[in-house]
Amino acid sequence: MKRILVAFASREGQTEKIAHHIARRIEDKGLATRLIDLMKGPADAGADDCDAVILAGSIHRGRHDQELSHFIMRHAPALRKVPSAFVCVSLSAASMHSHDRAAIDELAQSFFYDIGWYPDQLEHVAGAVRDKQLNLLERYAVHTVMYQKDIPSDPTGDTELTDWTAVDAFVDGFVAPLKA
Ligand SMILES: Cc1cc2nc3c(=O)[nH]c(=O)nc-3n(C[C@H](O)[C@H](O)[C@H](O)COP(=O)(O)O)c2cc1C
Repeated sequence: MKRILVAFASREGQTEKIAHHIARRIEDKGLATRLIDLMKGPADAGADDCDAVILAGSIHRGRHDQELSHFIMRHAPALRKVPSAFVCVSLSAASMHSHDRAAIDELAQSFFYDIGWYPDQLEHVAGAVRDKQLNLLERYAVHTVMYQKDIPSDPTGDTELTDWTAVDAFVDGFVAPLKA
């Protein structure tokens, strides 16, 4: 059975939720997965015995997490051998303004340049803002950004912007050639 590596770095939990959703969808399609939470420490297992890889990380203050870049740099030779996708989770992906979406595209490209690895596919996915998980400063900063980007926030303080139908469509498109 073909196996897909799904490795993720998540701070507030939305990329984790997305990665688990992706893994479940892949398994529903009859393929196996290896799910790695990169925040739990350096992973020894990589992509060596996998037929494809999906890496996922979120943007905080214009950057991706080090845990993600360290993993990619460490496993780059194996990652380059198989079909790959990078799932970039952010608020900007939900922005009404095309320049915000262009900015995260540039940010992702410069991340790939810095680590010396380029995925075959880049998928931008809107994340979530959960006020209870943020300190006062973070909350203020994130809500200011949302306001500037015309992103509506839920009055309950729990705003999930992820388009799950789009995530499913991405997974289906990614696994289709592997099933053929
Ligand atoms: C402190 C902080 C800074 C953030 N900075 C950015 C940013 O620069 N650009 C952006 O598009 N989203 C930004 N976000 C939104 C996150 O990318 C979004 O909340 C995402 O869902 C977080 O993923 P995670 O839950 O997996 O950590 C920020 C969120 C927080 C809490």
